[in-house]
Amino acid sequence: MSQIIEYSEKVMDHFHHPRNVGEIENASGVGTVGNARCGDIMRIYLDIDENRMIKDCRFKTFGCGAAVATSSMATELIKGKSVEEALKLTNKAVQEALGGLPAVKVHCSLLAEEAVHAALWDYAKKNNLQLEGLKPPVNDIEERDRSAEGSPETHSAEDTAETHSPEGAAETHSPEDTPETFYAKPGE
Ligand code: FES
Repeated sequence: MSQIIEYSEKVMDHFHHPRNVGEIENASGVGTVGNARCGDIMRIYLDIDENRMIKDCRFKTFGCGAAVATSSMATELIKGKSVEEALKLTNKAVQEALGGLPAVKVHCSLLAEEAVHAALWDYAKKNNLQLEGLKPPVNDIEERDRSAEGSPETHSAEDTAETHSPEGAAETHSPEDTPETFYAKPGE
């Protein structure tokens, strides 16, 4: 049985008009994170200058509308910021900037946080940098033990798939998925 999920105007705006969609050639850092449970996957590209400022940020998301909206908002929040500021991005900040998310969609914002951090990790690795507080990325956000970090707003067992991509592409997901099939706006 399907259930109607209410979204804020901002979520709908970023879903219908996502900002910063695409990829960056020779990006300073690229991060890809998925959620095996729902099958969604997100990739973030960063262009970082010599002063550690994020000049550009792009994303490709294969996932639900909330995942598209959270990716879009996350890129907006870190664009023009320093690496250190971007490191502080939390899924909570993404949710707040979007005017909130329904409880069953909170985990979508976690993908955004993790993908940004994974891209920063890649940047740090490429440049032999140690960024304080940055954890090694995970391929699947389910691997991250959020409870240990005191972040209760994690993936709920009640998460539903009603708004999911009709392709039901969970079984085809991997960080190596071809970029041209990566971005999707389910439900359209
Ligand atoms: S990221 Fe899994 S349902 Fe949105």
